[in-house]
Amino acid sequence: MDKARIAVLVSGGGTNLQALIDAQRSGVISSGEISLVIANNPDAYALTRADSAGIARAVVTKRECGSQEAFEEKIKELIKVHNIDLIVLAGFMSILSENFTRDFPERILNVHPSLIPSFCGKGYYGLRVHEEALKYGVKVTGATVHFVNEIPDGGKILLQKAVEIQEGDTPEILQRRVMEQAEWKILPAATEMVSKDIVSSRQKG
Ligand code: GAR
Repeated sequence: MDKARIAVLVSGGGTNLQALIDAQRSGVISSGEISLVIANNPDAYALTRADSAGIARAVVTKRECGSQEAFEEKIKELIKVHNIDLIVLAGFMSILSENFTRDFPERILNVHPSLIPSFCGKGYYGLRVHEEALKYGVKVTGATVHFVNEIPDGGKILLQKAVEIQEGDTPEILQRRVMEQAEWKILPAATEMVSKDIVSSRQKG
């Protein structure tokens, strides 16, 4: 079967990338194949995960590109050269401008570590999201997978999963629970959903 070609964009540890790789191995993702990993940070451990899985990888930094525009053009070029159908932001800590997102309508996914519309938007990323959830005192948080458009964390929601906050949680403990119980499940599931749509719309011609 012709599969959807997936690029995963990362910045750090890459546990969500690992969940996608594992899901491909176990068959949870069967309509898509991870064909490229792009990091905006040369030290991202996610790159080692890509190497271990034998996936092509590239590093594109804003510093080397000199501007947001050149940074996004370089990523677009890689997406084109590798014939990518679907872009997955998996812990990618850089906001892509409308210049980029408008070229890929409903073809970019992001995983966010809260139940959108809570604790999201500009400035809410990584541990900060969990710090704010704890500070606010919510009893339930979770994760969201959504399409990416020009509004940070504002695109159509595909999947969400709730996670309970427990007595004594620290941002780090909560982050880990949200990853284990929600992110590592809904990101592969949504990736398969969209990959399947891509393949079937291709077959319909
Ligand atoms: C994940 O919790 C992801 O949801 C979050 O950063 C972490 C990356 O971990 N992303 C954002 O906050 C984006 N707004 P990982 O590198 O181990 O996948």
